[in-house]
Amino acid sequence: MARFICNMRTSLAIYKGLISLRSMATYPRVVLGIETSCDDTGAAVVDEHGKILGEALLSQKDVHLKAGGIIPTVAQQLHRDNIDRVVNEAIICSGISASNLSAVATTVKPGLALSLGVGLIYSLDLVKQYNKPFIPIHHMEAHALTVRLLHPVEFPFLVLLISGGHCLLAVANGISDFLLLGQSIDEAPGNSLDKVSRRLSLIKHPECSCMSGGQAIEHLAQFGDKTFCKQILPLSKYQDCNFSFSGLQNYFNCVIQKMEDVEGIENGAVLSCAADIAASFQHAVAHHIIKRTQRAILFCKQENILPINASLVVSGGVASNGYIRKMLQNLTDCMGMSLLCPPPQLCTDNGIMIAWNGIERLRAGAGILNDTFDIRYEPRAPLGTDISEQVRKTAIKLPPLKIK
Ligand code: KG4
Ligand code: ZN
Repeated sequence: MARFICNMRTSLAIYKGLISLRSMATYPRVVLGIETSCDDTGAAVVDEHGKILGEALLSQKDVHLKAGGIIPTVAQQLHRDNIDRVVNEAIICSGISASNLSAVATTVKPGLALSLGVGLIYSLDLVKQYNKPFIPIHHMEAHALTVRLLHPVEFPFLVLLISGGHCLLAVANGISDFLLLGQSIDEAPGNSLDKVSRRLSLIKHPECSCMSGGQAIEHLAQFGDKTFCKQILPLSKYQDCNFSFSGLQNYFNCVIQKMEDVEGIENGAVLSCAADIAASFQHAVAHHIIKRTQRAILFCKQENILPINASLVVSGGVASNGYIRKMLQNLTDCMGMSLLCPPPQLCTDNGIMIAWNGIERLRAGAGILNDTFDIRYEPRAPLGTDISEQVRKTAIKLPPLKIK
């Protein structure tokens, strides 16, 4: 069964001192955000000052963990079963009636087709019923802009998005103006972490049974030796900002197979060296991310794309990882940049980031639809203008970096 995580995120509410019911007479513009692009049904009501008025989030993680991965038809059914409850919960928490919303913003790309469809159909019914404008949202744009709900970050900034389904480096020049420097040519890091965690049978580990793959790897890695496995660095011969995680994943699967033979256990049991493998894999993922990001920073400096003291913004589910954050902090310290990451609850998928993207667009007057006749969801959708070929041609060599 899916688990209803929370009505309102108390920690976030305390963090921003946000939840208050105010009279409509003085109320700023408010947007309802709806997220169903993958396996989380999320909704939130956010106002134009970034106040989170109400939020609900239903994770399907437990169901998919038991199934050994996300089954799109199951995800679709769970979104269908829960979307009305989640949206109503967010609206009720906000103290605002649906008729007083300024707009409805919903993820329409990229993501799982069956999951995106549920959010879109539900949202189109809602905007029709209440005669509201509709704001279609690009999921990765929403991850990139979440930071601006918390910090007054000016454009342009460099953004690294690392999640279950995506991995990319881009320059954010405006709310819908991105230069794509590089992206994964195969797997996303979250997906690889999930697969290696499954191959390690961490669902059977007493401390990790309810954790996502990435969380389980991070948790176990604290107790492991990151030098246990030989370190390999993907794409080290390619002087671009693209990523690759499938080779790493295969290499670690081979190590697991070998250690199962050594320990004489069947595939499905937890290895005694699981923590060492988790630590080595986490380090390899982090090291690869750092090296590609280092080149992106050098490229932006060389081409004068960013101001001297620009920020590196990191988001997406994998950005919740404390070890990866620490390595990125080390990188930005060395490169004279500031690092900004939203808190983990805002790095993983949620309705708040979608509502906030709706606010950003409402304020800019960009992409607000009063006629939703032509709107479709798009499972695959690039972010911004792809300049990865220009990055590759620049062929920046990476000087050594002292990684603590
Ligand atoms: O952004 P997200 O919620 O969904 C997508 O848009 O893909 O990211 C989910 C991914 C999962 O693969 C999960 O294993 C990973 O984020 N993740 C983590 C951590 N928490 C979640 N990866 C590494 N360390 C974590 N602490
Ligand atoms: Zn995401």
